[in-house]
Amino acid sequence: MFGFYSRILVAYDGSELSDKALDLALKLAEQDSRIEVHAVTVWDDRYVQTFGYYDIVSVEELAESRQRSTEELFGKIKGKLDAVPNKTATIALEGNPAKMLAEYAKDNDCDLIVMGSRGLSSMKELFLGSVSHNVVQQAHCPVLIAK
Ligand SMILES: Nc1ncnc2c1ncn2[C@@H]1O[C@H](COP(=O)(O)OP(=O)(O)OP(=O)(O)O)[C@@H](O)[C@H]1O
Ligand SMILES: [Mg+2]
Repeated sequence: MFGFYSRILVAYDGSELSDKALDLALKLAEQDSRIEVHAVTVWDDRYVQTFGYYDIVSVEELAESRQRSTEELFGKIKGKLDAVPNKTATIALEGNPAKMLAEYAKDNDCDLIVMGSRGLSSMKELFLGSVSHNVVQQAHCPVLIAK
């Protein structure tokens, strides 16, 4: 262990506040080039179950479209990640976002999670979105919320 934080997970959904979270994580990582930054996005499989996408598109089509969306999503932040000397990674997972983010952090020994208070949803009456709320509850490590 070389510093206070050594592997930071940034929960990235492409929202403005997740961009802010990424900037915050990269700023922290500037303190020490040995700090790693892992940008993680989760494709929420609840929509597939709710709307039965499998009936309309094939599993292959769904996988292809997710692959394209992942490339597009991370394409936007590649410049920022490449600009730091730190080791960085982009990871796309499938499942329940909060559960997968908390699990990834634990399984990969991340010692800080950085995320936005809200994400892509437009219902703004609550301070925290459901993903940030649940990650704070489920995470094994500190969670830094960008607002
Ligand atoms: N699918 C996801 N993958 C990775 N990070 C996510 C994902 N969804 C949300 N996040 C992270 O959580 C933060 C808060 O988003 P959240 O989804 O909780 O709020 P919301 O979209 O406004 O509300 P809700 O999704 O509950 O309707 C985002 O800024 C982002 O950092
Ligand atoms: Mg959301």
